[in-house]
Amino acid sequence: MARNKRINFLATLTEGYNKVLDIGTDHGLVLKRAFDEGYIKEAIAADLREKPLMQAMKNLKNYPVKYIISDGFLAIKEPFDLAIIAGMGSHLITEILNNAPKQDEHYLLQANEKIDVLRSYLTSHNFEIIDEYLLYDKFYYVILKVKVGTQTLSLEDIYLGPILKDKPEALDYYRHKAHHIEKIIPKADEKRREELKKMLKIFEKF
Ligand SMILES: C[S@@+](CC[C@H](N)C(=O)[O-])C[C@H]1O[C@@H](n2cnc3c(N)ncnc32)[C@H](O)[C@@H]1O
Repeated sequence: MARNKRINFLATLTEGYNKVLDIGTDHGLVLKRAFDEGYIKEAIAADLREKPLMQAMKNLKNYPVKYIISDGFLAIKEPFDLAIIAGMGSHLITEILNNAPKQDEHYLLQANEKIDVLRSYLTSHNFEIIDEYLLYDKFYYVILKVKVGTQTLSLEDIYLGPILKDKPEALDYYRHKAHHIEKIIPKADEKRREELKKMLKIFEKF
């Protein structure tokens, strides 16, 4: 896989969708890769800020892309098959999802941290996780594919992932998480320490 594994991997997950909306597109690199590989036919590149969107415009010149300045979904008025929200924190992703159209479309979510927060939010806001992917490129990246629906997740599912937990590649990730939690417990304050101990019990089974 070429230079940026995360970007390329996200692009592969757009295969089979026609019109893809990239929220927080920044330089438009995921869309560029998706077009270059022939995965998608049409796209909307959206960003909160003008400067990154101008960069996306340069990188995606002559591609069938519409550019929209938008805070999340707020200025998006047209339909799409898949929305990508990637490279952000879980809290920001949940804020953005609060205004999602929630019809037939799918959502590809890649939070940089606190995937448990994202999974909890999805469960309590009528989203259903339909797949989970893991990628290692210096860091572990967990990517969720979701749609509107209902799901019930146990505490284990919230941390391990209801689908990821059955994928063999998750084992190394869970061991890495357990090791990391063990390291940070002594430095955490009391409340956080209790949370971390619960998490450790879940991750150290592997
Ligand atoms: C770290 S970059 C991630 C870029 C790309 N999605 C990726 O995965 O590499 C975050 C981008 O999200 C944009 N952004 C932040 N908050 C946003 C919001 N509420 N709505 C739309 N874009 C937002 C920022 O301007 C920035 O371009």
